Amino acid sequence: MKEKITKLLSEINAVHIKNKAQLEEFRLKYLSKKGEISTLFEGFKQVPNELKKEMGQLLNTLKNEAQEKFSHFQNNINNETESSNLNDLTMPADPIETGSRHPLSIVRNEIIEIFSRLGFTVSEGPEIEDDWHVFTALNFPEEHPARDMQDTFFIEKTPDILLRTHTSSVQVRVMEKQKPPIRIIMPGRVFRHEVISARAHCFFHQVEGLYIDKNISFADLKQTLLYFAREMFGENTQIRLRPSYFPFTEPSAEMDISCNLCGGKGCTFCKHTGWVEILGCGMVDPNVLEKCGINSKEYTGYAFGMGIERITNLKFQVKDLRMFSENDIRFLKQFSNTI
Ligand code: DAH
Repeated sequence: MKEKITKLLSEINAVHIKNKAQLEEFRLKYLSKKGEISTLFEGFKQVPNELKKEMGQLLNTLKNEAQEKFSHFQNNINNETESSNLNDLTMPADPIETGSRHPLSIVRNEIIEIFSRLGFTVSEGPEIEDDWHVFTALNFPEEHPARDMQDTFFIEKTPDILLRTHTSSVQVRVMEKQKPPIRIIMPGRVFRHEVISARAHCFFHQVEGLYIDKNISFADLKQTLLYFAREMFGENTQIRLRPSYFPFTEPSAEMDISCNLCGGKGCTFCKHTGWVEILGCGMVDPNVLEKCGINSKEYTGYAFGMGIERITNLKFQVKDLRMFSENDIRFLKQFSNTI
């Protein structure tokens, strides 16, 4: 028996398996129930007691060797078939998973689309700004609370370099280098030093609008905003302008639309008033025009600014602002690709 085992051991060691058929042949010959090794185990019963220990050990070594050899070649052959599939350029490609557009992008694109029908073009400016473009040129007095550390992320003091707190800074950049007529919308991200919660975030998105030309009046502003509101929220939407204050517009107003969830009847979303605020607007203050090098005797203009998150919430009822920046695919894929 000992001889038989040693013979099998050297036989197994010498075997080289190249394909699946040879692997199966190997299994049948050595490892199957009727294979050589099982037969040897059968014969083990007849081994005299004093030799049982030695023979037992040898038999186990043989069995392990055969088993190892088998697994080794089995792995090799599997890997080879996988990589040969990879090399087969005629195989159909794996389908590419397409993502969905982010809800804020969908709404931003829709806003841009609506205003482009009225002749507005898109302008953009930097997120890292200086005091002049964010505050001073927009007529913010030196001691205005919005300059305070509590609202603004300052990057450097003297000269003041900061993260823009609104997209109105882009108005200034455009007016400084472009002569009227100017008719632009300016989408972008803005930053404020806020505690993050369901209703506030330290960054969010705005779209700013600016129209400067000869003889532009508040009536032009009102009609443009009415058109926007009806295109965005449906043709039955009503608007309401309330007097307000912004340093860079005079007169200034805030615009509400009739609540598009309850149709103006009153619900928890509009706090039972039937109206929801969506933007700030006004006639560009002559001081601002002059600071940007535009003759305020010759030109007038209007401006408006709205939060994209707010418009998105009205369209899609997203309750928690934080969901917009958490990158949870289960949330993101719910929004159809409308634009
Ligand atoms: N910049 C204002 C804000 O961030 C929004 C705004 C109000 C923009 C009135 C305007 C405007 O252009 O005319 O709250």
